Amino acid sequence: MSDITITTLQQMKKQGEKIAVLTSYDASFTRLIEEAGVDVLLVGDSLGMVIQGQESTLPVKVDDVVYHTQNVARARRKALIVADMPFMSYSSATQALDTAARLMKEGGAHMVKLEGGATQLDTVRHLVAHAVPVCAHLGLLPQSVHKLGGYRVQGRDEEAATVMKEDAQALQEAGAQMLVLECVPSALADNISQMLNIPVIGIGAGAACDGQVLVLYDMLGVISGYLPRFVKNFLAETESIPAALAAYVQAVKEGRFPAAEHSF
Ligand code: KIV
Repeated sequence: MSDITITTLQQMKKQGEKIAVLTSYDASFTRLIEEAGVDVLLVGDSLGMVIQGQESTLPVKVDDVVYHTQNVARARRKALIVADMPFMSYSSATQALDTAARLMKEGGAHMVKLEGGATQLDTVRHLVAHAVPVCAHLGLLPQSVHKLGGYRVQGRDEEAATVMKEDAQALQEAGAQMLVLECVPSALADNISQMLNIPVIGIGAGAACDGQVLVLYDMLGVISGYLPRFVKNFLAETESIPAALAAYVQAVKEGRFPAAEHSF
């Protein structure tokens, strides 16, 4: 059983093998998620909403992500662990390096994720120069929810789509080794996935991305209230949590999820 590394993921992209990603925040779910065949565990700052009951991801602290990454790392067997850099924990390149050091050294993350395009290029370069693998995040940026005026699909008009493509290219050139695209029209996400050499992981970005990610609690239906269009409750059509996780992985690997009804 060999570790899944960024090289494995790049190889998967080249061979057209879809990458299955789920968020994970604790040891018990990490065991089940890995048994289902998930390639990447994302310790997302979505933990603020689904674990802590916050209204957004903004209140999440570096300590919180370190704690949950430690829990995941204890149970992890071979999947790659990506940890989110919380809001205001990477406002400068120096601060970003301090945060990344904590997430990797104390938490056990293999890669860190940060939100943003052109404004993050120096930070990405600084992290990469210090051997920190970076996953970038474009499209709907939950940490910018107040600036964006809500959780909305991004890149719908030509100008915004062009900026997103330029940002994606620049992030790859700055050294980012993976990219998450959230709530982006399928055609634009397809375009960006084909344009880049690095794996592109979609959430609400259509089936053409190199892989897919969902928030664990969303795909198990363990949430109340509004469900975004891109979410599918896999537990609703299976009999157990392990079966739901396996159904998700199989649907991603076979390119059956997301379907048109989950995309924009
Ligand atoms: O925090 C998170 O779970 C994320 C995913 C939605 C991609 O960033």
